[in-house]
Amino acid sequence: MVWEKRAGYGELADQLRALILGEPDLVANTANMAALVYHTLPELNWAGFYIAREGELVLGPFQGKPACVRIAWGKGVCGTTAARGTTIVVPDVDAFPGHIACDAASRSELAVPLVAQGRVVAILDLDSPRLGRFDEADRAGCERLVAILLAHHPDWP
Ligand code: SME
Repeated sequence: MVWEKRAGYGELADQLRALILGEPDLVANTANMAALVYHTLPELNWAGFYIAREGELVLGPFQGKPACVRIAWGKGVCGTTAARGTTIVVPDVDAFPGHIACDAASRSELAVPLVAQGRVVAILDLDSPRLGRFDEADRAGCERLVAILLAHHPDWP
């Protein structure tokens, strides 16, 4: 199947809904969402979650190479996303001050905050080996996926 962004994110949203339907476990659902995103979106070398724990981010379910376990709030792309509470699209990771290189192959990145009851509870992070891989359609599409997950887990701890 050729990935076509506009239709693709709609299908991905449907697949995510079907995957988590009836399942209340947060680890199971974030793990399956990471796998779904990683194996559906083209040109990714990492996709997964960082979970907010006691003022820092801790590695959660993901697909890709082993990654940095803890990221300080406000540090790197993920920590900056957590501190701002808004999505960050990084066309060139080498041009982002403080970018944390987990996989040397990563050239661009997209980080989406998960906001529940007014606080950032996690980050969805995507990495690509291609410069400028992520655009506005990816931002909107991934924010939609995150909204589906959050709506399914209104009592995110
Ligand atoms: N590059 C991220 C670190 C996480 S990895 O990309 C999986 C950052 O700067 O926060």
